Amino acid sequence: MKAVIANDHGGVELAAAIMKHLDERGIGYTYLGTDKEESVDYPDYAEKAVNEYRTGGYDFGILICGTGIGISISANKMTGIRCALPQDSYAGEMCRRHNDANFIAFGGRIDYKEPVTKILDAYIDAEFEGGRHQRRIDKMMALEGK
Ligand code: RB5
Repeated sequence: MKAVIANDHGGVELAAAIMKHLDERGIGYTYLGTDKEESVDYPDYAEKAVNEYRTGGYDFGILICGTGIGISISANKMTGIRCALPQDSYAGEMCRRHNDANFIAFGGRIDYKEPVTKILDAYIDAEFEGGRHQRRIDKMMALEGK
């Protein structure tokens, strides 16, 4: 399993914690930064991550900004991306099972009720169910560009 990870300055600390967790789980990743506190623009990091994901060999992407909102909206503007912003581990699991999210976003400045690593694990360990959910995803993706 392999992920691509990118974050703005609001996600530096959380990205480091997530990478430590992925190391512990033996999940590979490519990290695109930023690893600095200086202000950067989150759309640039969403774009970098999606472009890297598109080179192939990745199972999913992880994006982090202060809230997770700006970087997830940015990624969702790019063709083929379904970036979820789960509130908790239930949403983390369901965004894979029902929405087949290929990216997951978090907020480095958000006070989650559970560890982000638990939410991430719920996503990683879940599987897309297909069936009626595939029909809905097909409809969702047909909205692109409208
Ligand atoms: C940067 O200050 C902040 O706006 C960004 O990290 C993110 O929260 C935007 O959605």
